[in-house]
Amino acid sequence: MKLLLLCLGLTLVCAHHGENHDVVTSNFDMSKISGEWYTILLASGVKEKVEEQGSMRMFVESIQALDNSSLLLKYHKKINGECAELIFVGDETEEEGVYSLSYDGYNEFHVVEADYNDYVIFYFLNYHNEEITQGMELYARKPDVSPQIKKRFEELCKNHGIPEENVQDLTNAVPSECFLPRSPCHPVTSSVT
Ligand SMILES: *[C@@H]1O[C@H](CO)[C@@H](O)[C@H](O)[C@H]1NC(C)=O
Repeated sequence: MKLLLLCLGLTLVCAHHGENHDVVTSNFDMSKISGEWYTILLASGVKEKVEEQGSMRMFVESIQALDNSSLLLKYHKKINGECAELIFVGDETEEEGVYSLSYDGYNEFHVVEADYNDYVIFYFLNYHNEEITQGMELYARKPDVSPQIKKRFEELCKNHGIPEENVQDLTNAVPSECFLPRSPCHPVTSSVT
C-alpha cells in the first residue's frame, strides 16, 4: 500500500513537470536560441503577407547568436518561382532582447516565449511606407510541434488582435513550395585551433 502511494506520488510529480516543460517567458538566453529551426506557423495583421507570394512567407533554416550580440538568421523563400536563400543580420536595439533588421522596410522583433529544445515564438513589427504591421512566428526544432503549442500560439496571436484566419500553417508547404537541402553540419559557434 505504501509502495503504491509512493508510485502514485511520483507519477503526479512527473506529470506536473511534463506539463510545464521548460517554458521561458522572459530573460531569454539568445545563445540557447542558436541552431536549426523549422517554420511552423506564421501570422500577420495583413493576411497577404503570410500567404503564397507574401513577403513574410519564408522558411527558417537556422539562427545563430553572434559574439557581438547580433543574430544571424538564415531562411529560404520562393522568389519569382525559384527557391532562394536569404541571410539577415539582426542587430540588438537599445532595448535588450529587441532586434532590428531591414527587409520589406524595417523590422523590430523579440522572443515572446521559448522552450529552447522544442519551440520559440517571435513577435515583430514591420514598418513599411508609413504602415505598421504586427506579426508572429512559431519555429520548432523539429518539422512539427504538438497541437497544444499551435493552440498556444493562436491564443497569443488573438491577444495581439491577430485573428485566427491570419495564421498560416507552413508544415506541409515546405517541400512543395520551396525546398533547399539543409547543410549536413550544424553551424560552428566558435573555432578552436
Ligand atoms: C556583428 O557581426 C556581424 C558579422 O560580422 C555584422 O554583420 C554585424 O553588423 C555586427 N553587429 C554589430 C552590432 O556590430
